[in-house]
Amino acid sequence: MNAPVTSGAAAPAWAEQVVGRCRELAAISEEDGRLTRRFATPAMARANALVGGWMAAAGMQVRTDAAGNLVGRLEGGDPAAGTLLLGSHLDTVRDAGAFDGPLGVLCAVACVERLRAEGTVLPFAIDVLGFSDEEGLRYGTAYLGSRAVAGTFDPALLDLVDDDGVTLGDALRDFGGEPEEIAGASRRGERLLGYCEVHIEQGPVLEGRDVPVGVVSAIAGATRAELEFSGRAAHAGTVPMGARHDAACAAAEWVLAVEAAACAEPGLVATVGRLEARPGAPNVVPGAAVASLDARHADDAVREAAVTALRAEAQRIGAARGVEVAWREVMSASAVAADGALTAALSTAVAERGLAVVTLPSGAGHDGVALAQLTGVAMLFVRCAGGISHHPDESVDEADVAVALDVLHGFVRGLAR
Ligand code: GLV
Ligand code: MN
Ligand code: MN
Repeated sequence: MNAPVTSGAAAPAWAEQVVGRCRELAAISEEDGRLTRRFATPAMARANALVGGWMAAAGMQVRTDAAGNLVGRLEGGDPAAGTLLLGSHLDTVRDAGAFDGPLGVLCAVACVERLRAEGTVLPFAIDVLGFSDEEGLRYGTAYLGSRAVAGTFDPALLDLVDDDGVTLGDALRDFGGEPEEIAGASRRGERLLGYCEVHIEQGPVLEGRDVPVGVVSAIAGATRAELEFSGRAAHAGTVPMGARHDAACAAAEWVLAVEAAACAEPGLVATVGRLEARPGAPNVVPGAAVASLDARHADDAVREAAVTALRAEAQRIGAARGVEVAWREVMSASAVAADGALTAALSTAVAERGLAVVTLPSGAGHDGVALAQLTGVAMLFVRCAGGISHHPDESVDEADVAVALDVLHGFVRGLAR
């Protein structure tokens, strides 16, 4: 465990602790040799226990809600003043880096620890949230944890099954969550001051502008879909090329159509991150293929039109090859604008730290997309080397984290002024 930071320490010491804790947390994985931590897995339980211990050491009351979110609470001096939500997610993508998600949770914990160490008592309470699912790796659809907090979790999601046939409801129950009580995780109706998240930028803009942090203006909308191409499996040595209904070839043609469509539409990004030929033997013509689609744009209408066109293109390609195409939309999230007042307060904290205020949109999705249905949302991005993210080489500079901690601390104190 990392050594505790002593009371009155300057931001660099807190930053060292935060980065050390992110690295320690990155050792908690479902897989040997790489970081993969999906929703409601034993690895998530170990991550919650480790971070929960740090929250408790920072003076917070710790609990896990019905959706498996970790919640650490620091009471304020005035119960009528409401609650400020801080945090990020503790799940990861497959073969992840150490900072996407945990940086925001551990910066929030450090902020609370710093406030207590200096003897600051805020009128409002702070809840630090470690969301149980933002990436959507296990069940395809993202923001399971934050949707529960926002009160927008659709109970039909409990019937989703993972690759091993385990339903979301059963996974959550085994984890210690309460699928039947998921509505109880909602914070709707409470007096909330807003939600603020620190996150690595995951892109190259701040590095290009030579600034350690930036203030997020909006988060792009996203659609996820899953396609199943069904052709006819056959012998790879005997069936002539013209007589095949090769599902993998249909999927491959469509993958390139996705790339071409995104290249042709300014601001559109579209990715096929999962592609599988079945039955998956070298001497069998693939009878089926499964592909995922992730499409994003800052303008919802452009994204929706692009997705409609890509769906039609899949049908056209399939028809030409005698391959059936089934399309299932897994998730659709609209673009979200950051809250004006909270973003102004965050910008003030950046300026008071003596830095130029750089604002930028987020192409990546964040828990704020779900929480915007509940309360105002603000985000602070931290520069990361080469814009590398969703990759084990993801990194942050400790000096930049120290700046982010100063800004978050200034922002929180500023809300109390
Ligand atoms: C989350 O990282 C996403 O943008 O998919
Ligand atoms: Mn991510
Ligand atoms: Mn993230």
